[in-house]
Amino acid sequence: MDDLREKYLGLIAGAADETALEELRVSAVGKKGEISLKMRELGKMTPEERQIAGPALNALKDEINSALSAKKSALADAALDERLKTEWLDVTLPGRPRRQGTIHPVSQVMEEITAIFADMGFSVAEGPQIESDWYNFDALNIPAEHPTRTEMDTFYMAQKPGDNRPPHVLRTHTSPVQIRAMQDQGAPLRVIAPGRVYRSDYDQTHTPMFHQLEGLAVDRDLSMANLKWCLEEFVRAFFEVEQAELRFRASHFPFTEPSAEVDLRCSWSQGQLKVGEGDDWMEILGSGMVHPNVLEAGNIDPGQWQGFAFGIGIDRIAILQHGDPVDADSEGEALPLIGVDVPGFQNLGVHHARAEDFHPIVALAHFQLAIGP
Ligand code: PHE
Repeated sequence: MDDLREKYLGLIAGAADETALEELRVSAVGKKGEISLKMRELGKMTPEERQIAGPALNALKDEINSALSAKKSALADAALDERLKTEWLDVTLPGRPRRQGTIHPVSQVMEEITAIFADMGFSVAEGPQIESDWYNFDALNIPAEHPTRTEMDTFYMAQKPGDNRPPHVLRTHTSPVQIRAMQDQGAPLRVIAPGRVYRSDYDQTHTPMFHQLEGLAVDRDLSMANLKWCLEEFVRAFFEVEQAELRFRASHFPFTEPSAEVDLRCSWSQGQLKVGEGDDWMEILGSGMVHPNVLEAGNIDPGQWQGFAFGIGIDRIAILQHGDPVDADSEGEALPLIGVDVPGFQNLGVHHARAEDFHPIVALAHFQLAIGP
């Protein structure tokens, strides 16, 4: 019996893992294990022998069982220690940041402008980006032979022979939404229409798709004074300045009479734009009193109602608001305003600094890097 004891305690102490341990358990104290077999032999013993052998066997069984479970937990501890050595985790390390998407500057600016005009009682109107040429041109007092049609570099939708639906275009401006809003809502009305517009033009300073925001107010006794107030309010709120001096320059749009291009007083220094001060003027939008023909196309009686309208190029404004990082030259000098058109303003004629320094798409990409994530 002592032999058995030595044998098993030795084997248990040397067991390499749980499987080995389980095999030992079966061969020692399992049903057919050596100790169990010895216990069966008790029946053949004399009562005297049995009195000695019985308790001794039970004690041996207990001893082996407790050696087994002690070894089992020692093995588990060792395994855990081993895992802790290789799988340790430094909880003091800074977390890995997850890249977060951000709102595109153009969308952000559209939302801001919409909120500003909402405070002035304007609601948002929408129209299709594939527009009939009637809405895009004729209804806006631009007849078929008018030079504006070619000036606007229009994308025409292909038409199969025999298709006698009216010709359609990718809208060249948001002004057709003026007509749709007047037809839908009648007078009086106040709407803005932000959206995408398209012109077949692509170079350093033009992209074929850009964004505009149209404004239209129709009421009794509206005048240029109301237009001026409204735009000044907008500029003050948008650029967050107390003073915003606007300059109205006589201009021409077929759909407004009189028409004005609007410049904003500003300064450029160290590549930084400051609004409301300085000696520069930056053109920011086109505007005017709605032409009577346009009111009529919108089913509104020009004898009873007047309207003002304006069109802002969003991409440009987004760049201005974010401080236009590509506009400083290498010395950080202010760049003079010269005649370079930028998207959204081809027909609004926004002029800006050196063409080679200015790429709006690059500029927008810069903002995204600068402001996100
Ligand atoms: N639709 C004109 C343009 O793209 C802008 C404009 C809108 C001018 C409303 C006057 C009034 O270029």
